[in-house]
Amino acid sequence: MTSILILNGPNLNLLGTRQPEVYGHTTLADIKAMCHEKAQTLGITIAFEQSNSEGALLDHIHAARGVHDGIILNAGAYTHTSVALMDAISSVGLPVVELHLSNIHAREEFRHRSYIAKVALGVICGFGAAGYPLALEALEGHLGQTE
Ligand code: DQA
Repeated sequence: MTSILILNGPNLNLLGTRQPEVYGHTTLADIKAMCHEKAQTLGITIAFEQSNSEGALLDHIHAARGVHDGIILNAGAYTHTSVALMDAISSVGLPVVELHLSNIHAREEFRHRSYIAKVALGVICGFGAAGYPLALEALEGHLGQTE
């Protein structure tokens, strides 16, 4: 059965109360539940993780090799700074969908650069929490074509 890791970076544990005008009122627990529901519909399994630490995110990406078929990554602010996360994605060779709740291109200039996008299969941003099930559908569809 196809297995996808959904990995969330710094400050995303605060969703629901964190700048709701930007990120909405949906909590990370709500998003996790949405993802499980979508996974059931698609007939796939998922793991859902969050960490505020860049090192822990790297460890999750490394550990995904041989366990998961692809990764959905909302790297939060590390998106715009982390060569290490970009290198980890290249190193494990798993397809990655970069995900953001907000439209990073409509925000501050420093959010326009993404190290993740350079090595990602594709990018979904600007659809709020609804981006998570969209990303699952997109990645599952891609994996179905490449199996
Ligand atoms: C974010 C966008 C990033 O620029 C920001 O640092 C976040 C959240 C998003 O989901 O919109 O933490 O990744």
